[in-house]
Amino acid sequence: MVTAYDYTSALLADRAGIPMILVGDSMAQTMLGFEDTLPVTVDDMVRHTAAVVRGTRRAFVVADMPFMSYQASTSDALRNAGRLLKEGGAQAVKLEGGAVVVETVKALVAAGVAVMGHLGLTPQSVHQLGGYGVQGRTVEAARTLLDEAQALEKAGAFAIVLELVPSELAREVTDALTIPTIGIGAGPACDGQVQVWHDLLGLSLDFTPRHAAKYAEVGATMLDALERWAEDVRQGRFPTEAQTSHVREPLDLGSKVLTPPAE
Ligand code: KIV
Repeated sequence: MVTAYDYTSALLADRAGIPMILVGDSMAQTMLGFEDTLPVTVDDMVRHTAAVVRGTRRAFVVADMPFMSYQASTSDALRNAGRLLKEGGAQAVKLEGGAVVVETVKALVAAGVAVMGHLGLTPQSVHQLGGYGVQGRTVEAARTLLDEAQALEKAGAFAIVLELVPSELAREVTDALTIPTIGIGAGPACDGQVQVWHDLLGLSLDFTPRHAAKYAEVGATMLDALERWAEDVRQGRFPTEAQTSHVREPLDLGSKVLTPPAE
């Protein structure tokens, strides 16, 4: 699974044969320039999900439920998940948290919504967690995470993202569940892996998280292209004849006659 937030990226991910696309609320940082994921709205998610779905032929599209779109009440969760499916065209929603969202997951599943869970580092709780560090390092935290994963499975989640947990714990959780785990910074034992588009493709020039590997330097390639094009414009080298059209016959404007170039 890879994140994508727009039509063109979805076309590429789909053509690459990646089976799942996550319209992540990480779009807050990657697309909208916010510090964290909290400001993203359901309207943002619906619009970007719809664009991704338009670019997708085969991939299964999961849309993140943004902060405070499901925490306040089950009816909020149902209404907002419904919008992501009906207006956005997503096939499933993802929401963060363990015990606290179990009843919500049950209600969504009962209403026919496919739900993906998300445990470990849950970025919507960044202020409570005190940062973006690895989770589940103590016995108590590891036991809680394992219990919560099983509770989410029992509630009807069809898969669980494990973000930033020690690989030994991710293996234990993966072995304990019958539904797939999808890891990000959780080691190789998860059933699947998810990466953020910008990290994977090297779109962010200044920062790549440790759990990501850059498979391309797209940001540097774009920067180079933009710098060369701007310089060509400044120097009069763009546009060339190849990008230029001409009048086909003399056009008499009264004050002047525009003539096609000589063959
Ligand atoms: O929003 C997102 O990109 C995510 C992934 C990190 C799993 O939730």
